[in-house]
Formats: sequence, C-alpha cells, structure tokens
Amino acid sequence: MISFFNSPLLAIDFGSSSIKIMEMTSGRSGKLQCLGLELLPRGVIEHGVIREPETIAAALQKLLKRLNIKTKNRRVAISISGVSTLVKRVAMAFDADVDLDEAIFEEAKQRFAHNLEDMYFRFEEVASTFVAEAEKAYILVAAKIDTVEQYIDLIHRVGLKVGITDCDFFCLANMFDFNYPIADALTMAINIGASSTQIVFLYNGEFLYSREIFMGGNEISQKVSDFLKVDFENAESLKISASMGEQAIAERIKPAIQEINDQLAAEINTTVTYFMGEEMAGRFEKVDHIFLCGGAASTLNLGTTLSSTLRAPVQTINPFQRIDTQPSGIDMDYIMTQGALFGISVGLGLRDISEIK
Ligand SMILES: Nc1ncnc2c1ncn2[C@@H]1O[C@H](COP(=O)(O)OP(=O)(O)OP(=O)(O)O)[C@@H](O)[C@H]1O
Ligand SMILES: [Mg+2]
Repeated sequence: MISFFNSPLLAIDFGSSSIKIMEMTSGRSGKLQCLGLELLPRGVIEHGVIREPETIAAALQKLLKRLNIKTKNRRVAISISGVSTLVKRVAMAFDADVDLDEAIFEEAKQRFAHNLEDMYFRFEEVASTFVAEAEKAYILVAAKIDTVEQYIDLIHRVGLKVGITDCDFFCLANMFDFNYPIADALTMAINIGASSTQIVFLYNGEFLYSREIFMGGNEISQKVSDFLKVDFENAESLKISASMGEQAIAERIKPAIQEINDQLAAEINTTVTYFMGEEMAGRFEKVDHIFLCGGAASTLNLGTTLSSTLRAPVQTINPFQRIDTQPSGIDMDYIMTQGALFGISVGLGLRDISEIK
C-alpha cells in the first residue's frame, strides 16, 4: 500500500562517470518529476565498487541541492552492478519432496562457482515459455555484502534511506520492456556506459540471459588519447564532438574509435554465440532486434559496427518513450540528445514505493 506520508522513491544510478537522479511522480505512473546528472572524477567508482566515498557523497549532495530535493524521510532505489553481482536464470525440475530454498542455493553455488558466503542471495520464480513440463524457471541473484553496505553507507551519509536495491541488468530489462513491449522476437538490450557494458537477452519480455563486459566509453577515449597523444579529458571531448557530427574531427580520430568499436562488437558477438548455443541449445536462429542505451551508445559508427557484426538491426533506446516528461520541465531536446544516458535510472525509477516490504 502506498502511504500518504511517503514521497515517491528517488532513483539514484551511480555510474563510474556520473551520478544520475530521476524521480517519477509514482513508479509506473509514467510522469517524470525530476532528472539530473553530476559528473564524477575518474576512478572514484570502479566496476561498481566504491573507491572514494567522500568524493561521491559530495557530488551526490551537490546534485540533490541543485535539483532541490529534500532528503528528510526520503527513500531511494539504488542499483548494484559490476564485479559484485551475479545473475543467472535457471530452469529446474520441480520436486515437491525437496526443500526448494536449499536446492536452489546449491544450484546457485554451482552455477556461480562461488560459495556465496560473503554475498546476499535471493531468487524468484518467473513465468517462462522455455521450460519443460516438470520444470520451473528461477532468476538467481547474488550481491557482495561489502559492496551493498558501501552503497547503503553512502546513501546514509547524505541523509537518505535505501528502500530498494536493484541490479543494472533488471533495471535495463524493466526499462526496455516498459517502453518497447515487443512480441515474438528475440531482443538484446545493451547498456554501454563508461567502464562497462551490460547485455540482456529478452523474449516477449522474459529475461533469458545477461552478461557484463568490462569495456565502454573509457576505452574509446583512451584509444583516442594514445592515438593523438593528448590527455584523456581532451580525447573524451574530441570523441564526443566526433560522435555528434563534427566531420573534421571525426575524420582524424575515426581509426582509433573503430578499433575499439570492433573489439566491443567482437566481444558482444561471442556472448551471442554462447547464448544461442550453450544457453538456449539452438532454439533461436537469429537475434531479431538490438537496442542500445548508455552514454557510449552514441559513439561514432558503433551502431553500424554492431549491426554488421551481429547481423541484426540496431536502434537507440529512448528510455522516456512512454514517460510524460512535461511535469519535470526538461526540454525535449535534452531528452532526445542525452536521454539514452538515463536507461538504468529510468529502470530504477519505475520501481514503486509500494513494493517496499
Ligand atoms: N554523445 C556522446 N558520444 C559518444 N560518447 C558519449 C557521448 N556522451 C557520453 N558519452 C560517453 O558515455 C560514457 C558515459 O556513459 P554513462 O553515463 O552511461 O556511463 P556510466 O553509467 O557513468 O558508467 P558505467 O555504468 O560504465 O559505470 C562516457 O564514456 C562518455 O564519454
Ligand atoms: Mg551506468
């Protein structure tokens, strides 16, 4: 039940290059109240692990102030990703004589090749079209306790409370399914950030498989930096200018960008091959659609490279496709040019305060 005394959840996405905040009037109502981003210095978050909590807390405080968000009694939704999370969908034969919790925990230890002692573990049964008659499908999630506690500490430092802890894969899948409900097609949603890329495979909204690759926009900027012998910040802005259509710059740095585009496409292609063969045992012949979000999705020629390597049409996601952005006062231009940065934030923002137990 939604209480009259609760404000809506505040979604906070801690990326390695920026903190993003987004607030809906109430979860799935589809009305955007507030949106903003604060850049972070490089290295303060690495692959989802907090390295410099003071710097991050200061940036978060600044962003909250700029967006005029009061922290008293506010609850937030955060997302964990990177090296601290493990996610797997499994199909298991249902046996009424066996303790389900125990059986699934054993299965998780095997699948994750981890004893899970230092991790929080949860599982959920999901409806599936891909299980045999005597089987049920479950999503297993494990998150490193230390990392989750680090994020909770950070939230407490600025006077907020954690209401929901999610993970980037589910945020991506939920955001995508909310905006682009696609029937009878195998779809990949890919979030390409600064230091990592998350991939999810979906069929009719069903979450089938996910994988994270530790590569993103930083590798591209680094390559441009090496190529032109300029510092990282310079390379970063040249890369963005080239990607936004500055022809002369694009001509100069195209080879450097292309080298990383090709590496990322090859890595994603390996994931597709594994998913088709090992995970789905040849059930699918091809990927029908590929949808991209995340800041680095706009990289020069990345979409076309992915499309030709993976042999499927590629589109950029607008995470606000089915969201009324008017109450926030954010202009449409910003949503159209920067919107893809907020893919994970929107997935988090769709979570509702009423889900907190
Ligand atoms: N217009 C653009 N063209 C190309 N690259 C861009 C553009 N805008 C942003 N980027 C790149 O996108 C990346 C930031 O994206 P995003 O905010 O999704 O990452 P993040 O969430 O901070 O990182 P991560 O999730 O990997 O920790 C940076 O590498 C940045 O250079
Ligand atoms: Mg991110």
